[in-house]
Amino acid sequence: MSQTFDRRTFLRNAALGVSASTLPFTLVELAFAKPEDTFTFAYISDSHIQHIKGTQFVRNWDRGLIRAVAETNLLTPKPDFVMFGGDLAQLGNKPELDHGAEMLSKLKGKVYHVMGEHDYYLDLGEYWSKLFGPQYYSFNHKGVHFIVLNSILTYDDWTFNRWPSPEQRMLEMAGLDNPNGSPFMVGDKQREWLRKDLAKVKKSTPIVVFSHSPLQKIYKGWNFWTEDAEQVQALLAPFDKVTVFYGHVHQIQYNQIGNISFTSAMATAWPWPYPQSYAQAEQLLPKLTVQMNRADPFFERDATGWQLIDIHSGRSRVNFNLYNNKGRTVAFDEKTGTPVDSAYQAPESRTPPQAHF
Ligand SMILES: [Fe+2]
Ligand SMILES: [Fe+2]
Repeated sequence: MSQTFDRRTFLRNAALGVSASTLPFTLVELAFAKPEDTFTFAYISDSHIQHIKGTQFVRNWDRGLIRAVAETNLLTPKPDFVMFGGDLAQLGNKPELDHGAEMLSKLKGKVYHVMGEHDYYLDLGEYWSKLFGPQYYSFNHKGVHFIVLNSILTYDDWTFNRWPSPEQRMLEMAGLDNPNGSPFMVGDKQREWLRKDLAKVKKSTPIVVFSHSPLQKIYKGWNFWTEDAEQVQALLAPFDKVTVFYGHVHQIQYNQIGNISFTSAMATAWPWPYPQSYAQAEQLLPKLTVQMNRADPFFERDATGWQLIDIHSGRSRVNFNLYNNKGRTVAFDEKTGTPVDSAYQAPESRTPPQAHF
């Protein structure tokens, strides 16, 4: 790996980066034998820009995104593109989407977008699409096939019939643990599109998928969940190397299902504690999830940060850069066949979830 890309230099230089991904010249070399195909991209997610009134917006959320944009612009090497992972807005209205788009316009280079539920449920994505384009699409970049899905759709009855107004619908979907919410899904139409899209791709081509909700079932009570996740996974299963990146959960998660690696992005807005802390609710956390205690309410950036993702082996190796400067890594361990956290704590030595000092 070091012969074509000095990863340590990249990590050092990118320590100011938000969430960047180094793509894998090992993989790319295998496919194309061209070291110059090595590239990086940045990944920013969940900014939740929130309008108060007039020209006023919630300051913390603004600052998170402004900082992410500024630090992404300082990345060396310069990323080939930036992916924004969804939930740009809090309640999906025009002032929020416009303000968010204005901040993102400061990014140098191409920006791609993923739809989040906070962007969608006011007008069913109409204004978002005007600003950012299609809600699902694919593109090829230097030998890697990238796919963006809108995973936050739900049942027609819930979307079209249940609520007296679009504002009410948005508010119901915006609550994390609202029992009136509805499970997310990719849906038949988009899965059929995905099937056709993948039919054109060689099984050896590395595939990177972006969704907003996890394309795996983690925790239904908080909609860390995609109802048709297994059907989407089945479409991706025949490919040799697949990585799925998602936002929405505002915390570090990592999992491996067959050939598919799953890695979440931290938010620029706020962290969610792990749902495990809600011990009374049904939970299906992936057993490999990195443990995290509740965020410090006096530190607005606690448990948010950026990560560098190296998928050169086809398995995500994620280096987390946290605001307290304690780096940690989650990487696939060939010996055990599972992802391993470099800062893994034995359960008995952990601070219990939700305990705070
Ligand atoms: Fe979010
Ligand atoms: Fe979300």
